[in-house]
Amino acid sequence: MIDLRGVSKVFSIPHQKRKTAFDRVFGRGHYTFESFHALNEVSLRVEAGEFVGIVGRNGCGKSTLLRVVAGIYPPTTGTVRVDGAVAPILELGVGFNGALTVRDNVFLYGVLLGVRRRRLEAELASILDRAGISRFEDARLETLSTGLRTRLAFTVALLAEAPVLIVDEALAVGDEKFQAQCLAELRRLKDEGRTALLVSHDVSLLSQVCRRLVLLDAGTVREDGPVEKVIERYRSA
Ligand SMILES: Nc1ncnc2c1ncn2[C@@H]1O[C@H](COP(=O)(O)OP(=O)(O)O)[C@@H](O)[C@H]1O
Ligand SMILES: [Mg+2]
Repeated sequence: MIDLRGVSKVFSIPHQKRKTAFDRVFGRGHYTFESFHALNEVSLRVEAGEFVGIVGRNGCGKSTLLRVVAGIYPPTTGTVRVDGAVAPILELGVGFNGALTVRDNVFLYGVLLGVRRRRLEAELASILDRAGISRFEDARLETLSTGLRTRLAFTVALLAEAPVLIVDEALAVGDEKFQAQCLAELRRLKDEGRTALLVSHDVSLLSQVCRRLVLLDAGTVREDGPVEKVIERYRSA
């Protein structure tokens, strides 16, 4: 379903140069650029119906990996194949507009994820109810707390019919009750045979829906296998 082969993603990182008198006069040479490998020769195959968790320290390349799978970043080298549409629930707020109302954001985000407008209209009340934010329907989104915004993002994203679901750090934000609700929803999607890549720092949460984890370290796959084995390696790293 997802097949990455030898995928690298290289970013250019600027470093400010110390200016010489010449540079000051001619205004050049202020920066040099370093090539930085956010992903380094990553190969990963995920079969249809699999739920795979991605773990690793901050900056190890988890979000970059998800973005490459979602087609948001083209890989610098290597090939990416995904059989079917992807519904990305990326970091908070991607696809939201804080200046618009909660209701408008349901449409904005929903349409972005390929949900039909008519369906969003028909289910608006139920979406807001499930997210627990009915009373904020007409409030500007930016007045909602981070947790509430994530709940909305998650609830809308679950409507997407895309066969591949990508969730970046969205699980850990909700309160306990909402987390339980999310887990139940994820299990339902799993039973439907969908495929998912989930990033979270909460390994116990991941282990409730995934049997397989991938440990990333500095852009490289360090470990890929059964949950217990990878968690052990992750904790000892
Ligand atoms: N657009 C970008 N330009 C330059 N560097 C980036 C960009 N996106 C991510 N990076 C860098 O790539 C590395 C991996 O980032 P990321 O995938 O967001 O890590 P994670 O999600 O695991 O915390 C980080 O060092 C980050 O600073
Ligand atoms: Mg990230």
